[in-house]
Amino acid sequence: MNNAVEFHGISRRFGGVTAVDDVSFSIAAGETVALLGPSGCGKTTILRVIAGFERPDAGTVSIGGRNVTALKPYERNVGLLFQHYALFPHMTVAENIAYGLRHRGADKREIPDRVEAMLALVRLQGFGARRPHQLSGGQQQRVALARALATRPSLILLDEPLSALDAKLRQELRAELKQVLAAVNSTAMVVTHDQEEAMSLGERVFLMQSGRIVQVGTPSDVYGRPDTRFAADFMGRTNWIEAQVTRRETGFARATSRSGLSLMVPDCSSDAIDICVRPENIVLSAADAADPDGMANSAKGRILNVALLGATRQILVEMPGGQQLLVMQANRVGDGLDPGKAVRIGFPVAACITMPASNRAAPNASI
Ligand SMILES: Nc1ncnc2c1ncn2[C@@H]1O[C@H](COP(=O)(O)OP(=O)(O)OP(=O)(O)O)[C@@H](O)[C@H]1O
Ligand SMILES: [Mg+2]
Repeated sequence: MNNAVEFHGISRRFGGVTAVDDVSFSIAAGETVALLGPSGCGKTTILRVIAGFERPDAGTVSIGGRNVTALKPYERNVGLLFQHYALFPHMTVAENIAYGLRHRGADKREIPDRVEAMLALVRLQGFGARRPHQLSGGQQQRVALARALATRPSLILLDEPLSALDAKLRQELRAELKQVLAAVNSTAMVVTHDQEEAMSLGERVFLMQSGRIVQVGTPSDVYGRPDTRFAADFMGRTNWIEAQVTRRETGFARATSRSGLSLMVPDCSSDAIDICVRPENIVLSAADAADPDGMANSAKGRILNVALLGATRQILVEMPGGQQLLVMQANRVGDGLDPGKAVRIGFPVAACITMPASNRAAPNASI
């Protein structure tokens, strides 16, 4: 089967800025991909090149096996939700949704039914006669989504579809959006700079940095096996321990951290290594407890501070020698994890992602 979208060596420059730098990828038909990266890294530009609003300076774009590089946006059957989704303020919700259908010369008798079906899909039945200003932000965003989907595009491009919503609404709409995308069975690319959103919506994540796609994988691949410090840091909170390998054994290595911690880590080709340990993989126990089971790495430390995040807490622990480790713990009542308390930290070999220290080069500044 043809890939739904193929990018071959696409570059797009604006004056001296290379917004998209020799990017190649393919998206399978029916797949949902999340395009993730910091502000200014080129996400919107990639979407605009796919949709045909931006001509690449180099490379080719194919949709459904057809080279569309020279085609106009309306010749591509792509549904696009813009980053600053703008509903037409003078039109009703129903007219907004019908806009693309009319524009494409759909049979007039079929439009009302199609609009009703779209309203049902985004759970806004009964809202067709309202105007955008009579809707909440979340409802407006859903209308914009219905408008993007109304023409049954084989390819849906959504640019920050949940931006500008409060955290709770964002989470609710995220779940709805996932269901909607599954229901329409189209190919989709969702742009976001929020790693949680990318991991929950995308079957694969394309991680971008400075105009390039730097890592591609399933959410658990990119989170659990980041290739670089940039990828590890962008995907979530992490601890970095700089260390030197002292001995190699079958399948793992012993290393000593700069602050003097003795560690067991997965083997790595380099002697100078950076060890990434996610805060949720560190276990805290009483300072005088025996080494927790299965925790090859264990040491005593002292709680420096505790930040309450609701269901979880971030606990900063200082180890002898000065290394600080962030620990994520469920927020359980009465466990006495307060600043000043002596604790034992533990984490298994499998919780350590080792990278050669030579990967440490500071990530390029955002374009
Ligand atoms: N029309 C344009 N003219 C000049 N520079 C542009 C133009 N469009 C984008 N750029 C530049 O290209 C780079 C990539 O922009 P783009 O909008 O693709 O980033 P983005 O990843 O979508 O960022 P954000 O998360 O902030 O939306 C930025 O440096 C931006 O300033
Ligand atoms: Mg953008």
